[in-house]
Amino acid sequence: MVRLGVNVDHVATVRQARRAPEPDPLEAALLAQRAGADSIIVHLREDRRHIQDRDVEILRKKVKRLNLEMAVTEEILEIACKIKPDQATLVPEKRRELTTEGGLDVAGNLKKISKAVKRLKKEGILISLFIDPDLKQVKASTKTGVQMVELHTGCYAEAKSKTKKGKELTRISRAAKEARELGLAVSAGHGLTYWNVSRIAKIPEIEELNIGHNIIARAVMVGMKEAVEDMLNLIKRRKK
Ligand code: PXP
Repeated sequence: MVRLGVNVDHVATVRQARRAPEPDPLEAALLAQRAGADSIIVHLREDRRHIQDRDVEILRKKVKRLNLEMAVTEEILEIACKIKPDQATLVPEKRRELTTEGGLDVAGNLKKISKAVKRLKKEGILISLFIDPDLKQVKASTKTGVQMVELHTGCYAEAKSKTKKGKELTRISRAAKEARELGLAVSAGHGLTYWNVSRIAKIPEIEELNIGHNIIARAVMVGMKEAVEDMLNLIKRRKK
């Protein structure tokens, strides 16, 4: 069975929009876990736009399996070594991007990434590299000592035509096969939705899918009716 990692960053995005205590990513994480999520993912960004340091500390204590998405910077590496998540996924990070754009250039940053992998591995953390489904990046990943790669599904998700989607799916399948043959565990994520996830979930080498935005988007809609009814009940009660 394919494992599901749920990214709760955007629960924190809503909270930070008002600097309010709610909604709490921990509460969302515990609900996701209760619903069957195999791991909880958060990205502690350099600009702290959503998840805060305190969230990571609390989540580390409360969830069964925490996957920390992180840039390869000294500050975040230090935090990761202190918090010791179960898993760390190394991602590229640009300040101005809306979300992670593209995978890590492992081939072009072999020394820096290998050093970070070694340091995190020493703390007993499972390391995954978020890479484009590109054979060059898969091969480079094996040289870093990493145990896992996460294949970027963004181009597949954004492909507009059937032909382009098919091509992207083939790229992902090939990269997954190559990674597995080279001894790496394989996961995938980014841009996955209720409409496009099935074809990715069918790729035999992919053992884990990491999904955030679309699950949070659906959770808002699924919960809207009950949330409004709860408020109406309180208002009616006050009027009596
Ligand atoms: N995997 C990685 C490495 C990511 O950076 C993200 C986005 O934070 C995801 C998965 C989840 O992507 P989405 O929010 O589009 O489902």
